[in-house]
Order: sequence, then structure tokens, then C-alpha cells
Amino acid sequence: MDKIIIDGPCPLKGKVKVSGAKNSTLPIMAACLLSPSKFVLRNIPSVVDAHTMIKLLSALGAKTEWLSKDAISIDSTNVNKWKAPYQIVSKMRASICVLGPLMARFKKAEVSYPGGCVIGTRPIDLHLKGLTKLGAKIELKDGYVVAKAKKLNGASIYLAGVYGSTVLGTANILMASTLAKGETIIEGAACEPEVVDLGTFLIKMGAKIKGLGSPTITVTGVKKLHGAEHTIISDRIEAGTYLIGGIISRGEVEVEDINPKFLTVFIDKLIECGVEVKQTANSIKVKAKKNLKPIEITTLPYPGFPTDLQAQMTAFLTTIEGISFIHEKIYPDRFMHIAELLRMGARIMKQDSATIIQGGKLKGAPVMASDLRASAALVLAGLAAEGRTEVNRVYHIDRGYPKIDEKLASLGAKIRRVKA
Ligand code: EPZ
Repeated sequence: MDKIIIDGPCPLKGKVKVSGAKNSTLPIMAACLLSPSKFVLRNIPSVVDAHTMIKLLSALGAKTEWLSKDAISIDSTNVNKWKAPYQIVSKMRASICVLGPLMARFKKAEVSYPGGCVIGTRPIDLHLKGLTKLGAKIELKDGYVVAKAKKLNGASIYLAGVYGSTVLGTANILMASTLAKGETIIEGAACEPEVVDLGTFLIKMGAKIKGLGSPTITVTGVKKLHGAEHTIISDRIEAGTYLIGGIISRGEVEVEDINPKFLTVFIDKLIECGVEVKQTANSIKVKAKKNLKPIEITTLPYPGFPTDLQAQMTAFLTTIEGISFIHEKIYPDRFMHIAELLRMGARIMKQDSATIIQGGKLKGAPVMASDLRASAALVLAGLAAEGRTEVNRVYHIDRGYPKIDEKLASLGAKIRRVKA
């Protein structure tokens, strides 16, 4: 298993381009199952999860062909299977987002019940509630969700749960309802930019959707959809990760090709902590000024502070004198990074779904990657730590960050990947 070695401290300096959004790419690829047509998707990030989704589409009968390093054609004309196998779904929980399109197209689907992962149990009760409201009969058989429907009828569905809206749950119901008979109103819908990007793609395919980006989305079912071309939006979480790299290392980093509106609360929190932030319509630049201040953060569904930047922000706050506080309200167990940061000398106390962080100095150490964002947080910590940090099991990072070592090296990081 590869590892990444970072020698710190090393202030980052320069500009970096973010890639396409992983969390937009996955549901949009799944949406290509809705119609027996040809699609071209551009700005696809070169990450393992995108390749896993391509494998899944191919297993269902789609034909895919890379047109360039980040553009792909998907032909779903001959898709003739509706069973998403355990071998693939167990590798990537997001495979669940083929459930909605398969139900819409075939009125039946069998998707391996996604297991949990290190950030939590990852239930899908809201996905199944939505599909049931649309007319699906659902049973669990041998670890598979088996869904069937005579037809799908539009319905009024409240889709949020105790932790707020569900991103992929909204994606699944949005996709399924495009071909349902009549009107579907999704209340408590996710407002994430990635859901808006999916909805924009569905509209290009001929779907009738209103309210994207708001908690109430209205879909008027159509008889059929057609092929489309689409350029995936930039990855706001990748952008936030590199911006944190710039400030944790006390450097100056500009991220290009990112719409600052996707990161409003994140930017607000950086300013509150004393970071100098400059933004244009498609770039964000940060510079750590002297005496940064500790802050409090609560993660919430969009437009709240993104849970996918919580671990990276935790690493940053361990380097700021004073007491900071993070309350993780989306995934109460999303703290795999804490134990590893403690090994680097961080002073963090965990109390249920919150952490109290006492800022200080980090020291390099060998650490273990666990989930995608926790692993990225450890790499960022290595940029600030005194000495050498070795992040093991970097395959976790490769699931969602294209060439993170190369991009950080281009900003001056003393970083290298060692093939194990
Ligand atoms: C998406 O996961 C993202 N993944 C996650 O990013 C992200 O952390 C998450 O949204 C929240 O923003 C993709 O888009 C591929 P949810 P998703 O349904 O849709 C609970 C990353 O690092 N819930 O919005 O699976 C759930 O347990 C990944 O890129 C239910 O209770 O998350 C959680 O507490 C990690 N029942 C909360 O809702 C359900 O049926 C939000 O989950 C579904 C979810």
C-alpha cells in the first residue's frame, strides 16, 4: 500500500486548479441509466470512486469510452441488468445512487445494501421511504435491497431525517421521479451544489424540475428522457482542502476554477479566524495573517459548514493558540482523524459528537489514513508539523483527491508518494 511522506513545516505558495466534483460525478454517471441513450461527461475527476462507478455502469451493460483524460462517453442503450453486485457496492457506498435510475427505467432494481463505513452506519431508510412513496415495493433479501413497482406515481415526499437532508437520498428520488407519472414534490430536499448539478443534467436530458438548490423540489414526470452532454462542476471540498493547506502551513494559496458561492460559510469561518481571503467569480485566495483566532464550528447540511471539511478544519485549528470547538452534527462518529492527530502532538478532547481543540504545535509522525477526509486532514497536518509525517494507506485519499501529492508539490510542499 502506497504511503505519502511530508517534511514540514513548509509554507505553501502558489495557485492550484481543482478537478471536477466527485460527489457530482457519481450521481450524474448513475443518471445516464435513466434513458437508453448516449452521453458525454466532461471535467470528470481522475479518482478511484469515478472508476468504480464506471465499472458498475459497465456491469449493468453500459458502454463507456474515455474521450480524453477527463471526458467520457457513456452509452446506456444496451443496459439490460438491474442488479448492482455486492463486490462493487461494498467498495463504494455511493453506488446506492443507481437505485433510483434503475427503478425509473426497469421498475425493478436489486442493489446490495451498502455497508457502513468508518464515518458511520450510513443508513438508506430515507432513500427507501422516498421510493416507497413513489409506488415501489421494497424488501431486503440476502443483503440486497430488492425494489419492484408496477409503475411509479408522483407523490409528495418529506425526505429529511434526524440529521437533516440526505444528498444521495435526494439524488435517488429526484432521478426516480423524472419518469414517474404526475408531479412529485420533495420537501426537505438537499440543497448541495452537487444536487443542483445533477438536476441541471437531468433537465438537459428532458426532465421537468423546479426548485433546485432549495429545500422544495418539484418534478413533473415525463414519458422518456434523452442523451445529453454536461461539464461537471468543480469540487468545492477539494478546493477547501487546498485552501486549508495554504493556511495550516502559514503560506498563501489561490484555488482557481472554483465558485466561492459554493463555500460561503467556510470562507466566513476563515475570515472569523483572521485569515485574509480574496475572491473573484471563479477563484479564492487565502493568506494566514499573524495571531489567528480560535473559532467554533458546527457542521450542517448545505449551505451550512460542510461535514466533508470538518477533519481538515480540525487539523488547522490544532495549530491556532486558544480553544476551538467543533460540533459534528451530520456524522457524529466522523472522528477517525483525532487519534492520529493526537499522535502528532495535537491536544483534542472528544465529547460525544463534539471536539474541544487546544491549539499548539504539531510534530511529524507515522499516521494511518482511514476515511477520505480524515486522510486528507493528516496530509495537511504534515505540512505544518515539525519533522517527517508518513501517511500510510493512501488509497483512501485516492478515492476522492486526484494527484494530491503532485498538486501539493506544485505549491512547494516537501511531499512524495512511496509505492509500497
Ligand atoms: C453525501 O453522502 C456525500 N457523498 C458525503 O461525502 C457527504 O459527507 C454527505 O453527502 C453529507 O454532505 C456523496 O455525495 C457521494 P447523506 P450521503 O445522505 O448522501 C443520514 C465524501 O467524503 N441519513 O446526506 O450518503 C446519514 O447517516 C463523502 O465525499 C439517514 O439517516 O450522505 C447522515 O447522518 C463522505 N438516512 C446524514 O443523513 C438515509 O436514508 C446525511 O447523509 C440517508 C442519510
